[in-house]
Amino acid sequence: MNRQASPLIGQPVDRVDGRLKVTGQARYAAEFSYPGLVYGVALGSTVAAGRVRDIDTAAAEQSPGVLLVLTHKNVPRMAPPAPETPQNRFTRATPLLQDTAIHHHGQLIGFVVAETLEQARHAATLVKVSYDAAKPRIGFDANVKDAYAPAAINAGYKTDTRRGDLDQGLRTAAGTVDAVYNTPIEHHHPMEMHATVAAWEGDDKVTVHHSLQMVSDAAPAIAATFGIPRENVRVVCPFVGGGFGSKILTRDNAMLAVLAARLVKRPVKHVLTRQQMFMVVGLRQHNRQHMRLGADASGRLTGLGHDTVTHTSVHEEFVEQTGVISRMMYEVPNSQVTHRAFRLNVQTPKWTRAPGEAPGSFALESAMDELAEQLKIDPVELRVRNDARTDLDTGKPFGSRSLVECMRIGAGKFGWSNRSAMPRSRRQGHWLVGYGMSAASRGAPHRGASANLVLTRSGRDVRAVVEMCATDLGTGSYTVIAQTAAETLGLPLDKVEVRLGDSALPPTPGSGGSWGANTFCTAALAVCEAAKQHLREKVSLRFVREPSVAELLQAAQLNEWRASNTATPGADIAAWSHYAFGANFAEVWVDEDLGLVRVPRYLAVIAAGRILNPKTAASQIVGGIVWGIGNALMEESVLDERSGHFVTRTLADYHVPVNADIGDVQVLFAPETDTRVNRMGVKGVGEIGITSVAAAIANAVYNATGRRVRDLPITPDKLLMPVQA
Ligand code: MOS
Repeated sequence: MNRQASPLIGQPVDRVDGRLKVTGQARYAAEFSYPGLVYGVALGSTVAAGRVRDIDTAAAEQSPGVLLVLTHKNVPRMAPPAPETPQNRFTRATPLLQDTAIHHHGQLIGFVVAETLEQARHAATLVKVSYDAAKPRIGFDANVKDAYAPAAINAGYKTDTRRGDLDQGLRTAAGTVDAVYNTPIEHHHPMEMHATVAAWEGDDKVTVHHSLQMVSDAAPAIAATFGIPRENVRVVCPFVGGGFGSKILTRDNAMLAVLAARLVKRPVKHVLTRQQMFMVVGLRQHNRQHMRLGADASGRLTGLGHDTVTHTSVHEEFVEQTGVISRMMYEVPNSQVTHRAFRLNVQTPKWTRAPGEAPGSFALESAMDELAEQLKIDPVELRVRNDARTDLDTGKPFGSRSLVECMRIGAGKFGWSNRSAMPRSRRQGHWLVGYGMSAASRGAPHRGASANLVLTRSGRDVRAVVEMCATDLGTGSYTVIAQTAAETLGLPLDKVEVRLGDSALPPTPGSGGSWGANTFCTAALAVCEAAKQHLREKVSLRFVREPSVAELLQAAQLNEWRASNTATPGADIAAWSHYAFGANFAEVWVDEDLGLVRVPRYLAVIAAGRILNPKTAASQIVGGIVWGIGNALMEESVLDERSGHFVTRTLADYHVPVNADIGDVQVLFAPETDTRVNRMGVKGVGEIGITSVAAAIANAVYNATGRRVRDLPITPDKLLMPVQA
């Protein structure tokens, strides 16, 4: 009899899809093929502003193998899309090549389809585009004066918040910080390029393999774009090689492939190049953050100002919620947090891992370090003294908040007491050694989702299939869903199969915003419980202990049982404020002569409620830390202010950390039981890991060198420049 005695939820189970991945059997979007498959190449604008005057496609059309050169001149006319609303934000139609206006360099202006990829690429070089180019608005400094107050910022957060009297709070302070921090444009660059394979059956039914985070939203978006019923669109995406926010939307690149496939009546494959991924799949904006902090002599905050100014595009508005972390992190009576934006001929910034908190925490947690230094209070102690028990932004109590525990555990494990409070006072040969820390938080949302369960019995062998339209971006969704289902059903893990990434499956909100694991697993739990409940009602036997589904099916003499269920967040969740918290500790070594920064040792302590799988969860945190080290020391997308093109346009010049850059990274989970955040007590771990990492590194660099770098990344030149008087 199949029976799993030991619990599975919370165990460091190996990835259930690991074998498929290492044997190459996990199929990513571009690996799906169809008879007659042809290839598409997207054409990008080589100017950043103005209009396309003309596109001469004659030579490309006569090139061998070419089936279609799609431009504004021959594209089918589409109805103008519905205005954006919070409800249709992810699902409304995308207009394709409907006008000639150019908003940014690299904007897609055409699409070439040919029998082979080589033929398509060659033909794309033969397309001659002429422009009526305008002078683009590119520079941050030159355009910041045009900043305006957006009506709202990303995720519906308020643009501005104020409480108490900030000026008064700062005037009465014993110590103050008033400083400006800059975080540069950054790009996501998942390993898997954005890829699409589109295959139509006739003119009104299409299957789209597309690398996505939100598969449930893709089908209605494609249906709206092509004017076909939603049920005629199937989006398939069982494996995704990272997304980080770049794969939330179904964008022009994918929609053009779908359109081209409809026009040439052949399946079309389209994969963006790495260079194109700098131009058309979103980016993290450059944020300029003005921080003002004031505290009394004991370190209690009397005032906090966090004013962000950033850029959006000329044709759309997206403003990252950079200041939201400052609204809830500390107990401060007087505060002002504002966001302003101005328009540039640069593609619209979009979600990038921990949108808001990642750059916002750099400013807040650097400023806290500066305040600690000024007041001669230990940085951990300063944060402990300002720990908030209530979310002052919403007035709600925190469902759970274990920030102090994270800092205490981390300080002990890291050996924080060995830190010298005096900057530039520890060295190893020509290396200056420093310790830095920071506190982190990230919202812990929970959303509704549905799932199907199919149980089959063959003799004593019982198997389960759990299905939902969730995604696994490499995060471990398959694994944690399987753990949840197996434990709930009382089956061994290898008797549970999980099917994801198909719009034909029950809807979920997909992977994003750190809600994936708790949302998917709660739906899996709900459908497994429903099945057990129904089976128990069919079986009139009494059990001395909780029966497994295998026992129930056997008792009921059933060979198959199907269940569906939807888990919706309970109304009581809204009574509390839900956040994951963390504490970061970094040791850095700085080469005094060369300005090189090394991070030999890093510790993060994370409190995120119940940890479904410490192995996959720790892997999420390590990924966030590595990216955070990249934010701190390397990553910067540099714009050519004349052309609007990126100077950094390959991974050779857009630097990210490699293995040799990463020292010993340790992740600990603080014990935390939260019965309020959701039924399973799980907070997300997708984004808390990156939060405040850059500040911990910058604070350690300050401790090592006495040099406060407020403009990321901390490249050697910034450490070697003479100190400004
Ligand atoms: Mo995340 S930036 O919601 O993928």
